[in-house]
Amino acid sequence: MKKDFLKYQAQTGPAPLSIEVSHAKGTYVYDVSHKKYLDFVAGVSANTLGHSHPKIVEAVQKQAASYMHVMVYGEYIQKPAVEFTKLLAKLLPGPLETTYLVNSGTEAIEGAMKLAKRATGRSGLIAAKHAYHGNTQGSMSLMGFEPRKQAYRPLLPGISFIEYNNENDLYNITEDTAGVLLETIQGGAGFIEPKNGYLKKVKARCEEVGALLILDEIQPGFGRTGTLFGFMNYQVVPDILVMGKGMAGGMPVGAFTASHDMMTLLKEAPKMGHITTFGGHPVIAAAALATLQELTSSNLIPQTLEKEKLFRSLLVHPLIKGIRGKGLMLAIILEDPEIVNFLVLEGMKKGLLLFWLLFEPKAVRITPPLTISNEEIEEGCTAILELLEEWDSQNVN
Ligand SMILES: Cc1ncc(COP(=O)(O)O)c(C=O)c1O
Repeated sequence: MKKDFLKYQAQTGPAPLSIEVSHAKGTYVYDVSHKKYLDFVAGVSANTLGHSHPKIVEAVQKQAASYMHVMVYGEYIQKPAVEFTKLLAKLLPGPLETTYLVNSGTEAIEGAMKLAKRATGRSGLIAAKHAYHGNTQGSMSLMGFEPRKQAYRPLLPGISFIEYNNENDLYNITEDTAGVLLETIQGGAGFIEPKNGYLKKVKARCEEVGALLILDEIQPGFGRTGTLFGFMNYQVVPDILVMGKGMAGGMPVGAFTASHDMMTLLKEAPKMGHITTFGGHPVIAAAALATLQELTSSNLIPQTLEKEKLFRSLLVHPLIKGIRGKGLMLAIILEDPEIVNFLVLEGMKKGLLLFWLLFEPKAVRITPPLTISNEEIEEGCTAILELLEEWDSQNVN
C-alpha cells in the first residue's frame, strides 16, 4: 500500500509520516498492524470532538440517508445549513450574523478577501509576517513567508505585510486598505498570541481609516482556546470572521461570517459574486451543527483551559524552552529543530502523534481533540518527557 500511496497519490513532501490507518476512535488512531497512537494533533486542529464522535457519525449517517448534494450553494433551502448558520449567529456578537459556507479554510479566506473589496471599494489588503491563511493563490498571496511562495509568483498585487504585535506598523493601514487579515493567534508562526491589546488597536486603526478587520479563526475557532472563538478572549469583534478546520468535527469545511448587509454585496451587482457547487453541503452542515451543539451543551470549551494548565504543569524539562499558545492550541518550544524532528518521529514509533508547525522549526504542535481526558494528557506528556530523556542520553558529548 505504501508503494501505491507514494506512486499514485500526489505527495506534499519528501517524507510523509505514512501511518497506514485502519480506523480512529476518540483520541486514538489505529494502524493496519493494530498499533494504536495517542493523538495530540487531531488532524491538525480539525477533530474537535475526537475521532468518529458518535453524535457526528449519527448526524452524517442520518443526513446522507436523507439527501446529499441536491443543488449548488444558495438555491434550495436545506435544513442543516440553515440551522447551523442560525445557531452560529445566536452565539456570535453583532454585527456577525450571516454566514457563507464553503468547503475549506482557504476558500473561506478567498471569500473574505473578495467581500472586503466589495464592502470598501478598495483593493489593498494587509496581512502579517509569518501568517498562514491557506494555499490557493489568493490566500497564498497573504502568506507572510516568502520562501514558500516565491515559486508561484506573480501572486495578487496590492498586498503588504505588517509585523504581528508591532503597534508601530499600524500606520501602514491607510485609506487605501480594504482589509487587514490576521490570525487571532498566529498558527504557523509558532502559536503567537496577540499582546497588550494588539487586536483592539488594529481594529481601532481600521475604524479610523475605514478598513475592515478580518480575523482568521480557522485554528483557534470552535472552542480550542477556552471560548467559542479566539477573538472572544481579546475584547475585539472582527468585521469578517473566517472559520474552518474544527468547525465540522473532521469533515471538510470553511465559512465566513459578516453583517447581513455586508453579505448582501455578494449577491448583486454583479449577482453571483461568490458561488460554489458544494459549499453548504447538507452532510457537512449536519456535522457542523452536531459539533456546535455538542460544544455548546457540554463543558468542553471551558475545560480546555484546565487541560492547558495540566499540560503546562507536566511538560517541564530542561530541553523545553517554553510553551506558547492558549487552551488546547499549544506549542512546545525546543532549542533545536533536531529535537523537534526526534520528538515527532520517535513519538510516532512510541505511539504518540505530534506534528510540526509550518514556519517555526523549533516548535512541536500540541492540538489534541477537545475531548482528550486528563489521563490521556498524562500518558502523552510522560511519553514526551521519556523521549527528551532519550535525546539527552544519546546526545551527551
Ligand atoms: C490559520 C489558517 N488559515 C487557513 C488555513 C487553510 O485551511 P485549509 O487547509 O482548510 O484550506 C489553515 C490551515 O492550516 C490555517 O491554519
